[in-house]
Amino acid sequence: MCGIVGIVSSKEFPVRGELLARLKKLEYRGYDSVGFATSEGLVMRGVGELSKFIVRVPAELEAKAAISHTRWATHGGVTEANAHPHSDCEGKLFIVHNGIIENYEELRKGLEKLGHCFETETDSEVIAHLLEERLKRGGMKSALMSLIREAKGTFAVLALRKGEERIYAAKRDSPLALGIAKGGFILGSDIYAFSDATDKAVFFDDDEIAVVDAKGYEFFDAAGKPVRKKVTRFKWARQEEAGHGHAHYMIKEIHEQPLAAERLIRSLETEQAKKVGKLVGMMRRAKRVVLVAAGTSYFAALLGVYFLNRQNVMAHTLIASEFENYVYVDKSTLVIAVSQSGETMDVVSALKFAKKRGAKIAAIVNVPHSTVQRMSEVSLEMMAGQEVCVAATKTFTNQVIAMLFLASKFGFHANFESLPLQIEKTIAANEGKAKALAKELKGRNDVYIIGRGISYPSAREFAHKLKEIAYVHAEGMMGGELKHGTLALVEKGTPVFSLMPAGDVDIVSNTKEVEARGGRVIRISTATDSDFSIPAENGGVFAILSVVIGQLLAYHIAKERGLPIDKPRNLAKSVTVK
Ligand code: F6R
Repeated sequence: MCGIVGIVSSKEFPVRGELLARLKKLEYRGYDSVGFATSEGLVMRGVGELSKFIVRVPAELEAKAAISHTRWATHGGVTEANAHPHSDCEGKLFIVHNGIIENYEELRKGLEKLGHCFETETDSEVIAHLLEERLKRGGMKSALMSLIREAKGTFAVLALRKGEERIYAAKRDSPLALGIAKGGFILGSDIYAFSDATDKAVFFDDDEIAVVDAKGYEFFDAAGKPVRKKVTRFKWARQEEAGHGHAHYMIKEIHEQPLAAERLIRSLETEQAKKVGKLVGMMRRAKRVVLVAAGTSYFAALLGVYFLNRQNVMAHTLIASEFENYVYVDKSTLVIAVSQSGETMDVVSALKFAKKRGAKIAAIVNVPHSTVQRMSEVSLEMMAGQEVCVAATKTFTNQVIAMLFLASKFGFHANFESLPLQIEKTIAANEGKAKALAKELKGRNDVYIIGRGISYPSAREFAHKLKEIAYVHAEGMMGGELKHGTLALVEKGTPVFSLMPAGDVDIVSNTKEVEARGGRVIRISTATDSDFSIPAENGGVFAILSVVIGQLLAYHIAKERGLPIDKPRNLAKSVTVK
């Protein structure tokens, strides 16, 4: 994870108003600490979010080249010393890094023997010292070639030398892009860093090096041979930074769902229709379809499996981080990645594994030009627009709609016309109830959500939202499995949400089993007299609308508890480490 931004410009730019303003756009990648270095050799670092740090940076501070970093801690605690940039022994070379150097201990020991002094607990610092050491034998390009040769693991690195208005970059597995702007260049972990300044980008491939100054850029492969890079024009809806009229991005994004859903449906029927046709063709030709995803996207994928299996498409899914261990893929398999960011390392690794086994790769992503999209033969876009809150809401809904849309091509019934309105009605009719229930549940720490069949993935996603946003220990589970163990935890007053799509008689029995033990049952169903009534005419729609209730509830419990809703502790939106 972590976000990195570097700028080189022919004119001086304000560090605060330009570099750090761009870094803020990447804060969703981590917000444990922040820092920057300028080509003049000025370095500042701080713990916590950018907004707290930025006020310490003089508004008049300018630079012609600078690099910056927002951290999601992996190796080493959240301290100022561990904040990037890190420097060499002499304080003449600075680096920012996203990724993990797996063999850093071994490299560090070797460098310490050569006299290098380390000041942090991070894996990243080894990059600065390794470059310093290799610079004794040659220039920065060959030092970066050594880094590529010697470092194991993942990295997107920007390096700056004191007194040079030039940024050096190298990457493996972690994402890195170069934005071609007016009067200079912006390097960033993704296109958010520069999408307001340009629509032209160059995407780094693995084991590539770039040298960038205000006049131009050069790319090299790991052997130092020049590489001609394609300039990509991208389209990306910008997100306004403030003034959206809601207390938090999360609630803004919950309310955006009807619009986002409509945009996706329209796009799948028109501009993305060709890609849908191509993907459906690939699905028909494949012996089996395997969906791969993490977190919320996995629950959407699980729903996809339900929809497809109903239509006799052999489909499976597995959490990306365990993909290699539990799924069989070969040449006759189509692997479809489902990912909001398109950068989740576990998903990227699973795709690499699948590719090696000869599988075909496709994707459903929200961020265009992301790594996952670029690895895929065909990729549908979720059209949800930028999602700022770390917790996925509108992108989950659009992922499920995309799944439903694909399944509908195999005969699964769904009424796409009325869906956006049903989401709107669900929010309007239930937000007040969610608010009231949040007051009752704000002190509870254990909550269960049960669902069967089509509601089971929704129960999991409902619980996921309660955990990450409201810090409630919530378990989303199969209604039928409750009696095989977990029921022992249900006592008088234990909150148990029951997702009850019309016609599911078994969930009615499971709900009664909870009630008989004194559990506090909260029913979500299409019946008008249930605790939360949703206007779902079929299972697919029910699956989406029941999660919307979970989103509202998680938001309001978190609000009652005074939690940092858009940036929950320990999390980041784009998880680019294993
Ligand atoms: C949940 C959440 C995470 C992500 C997961 C996968 O609200 O945001 O669980 O769903 O990290 O991320 P993507 O979809 O970007 O691959």
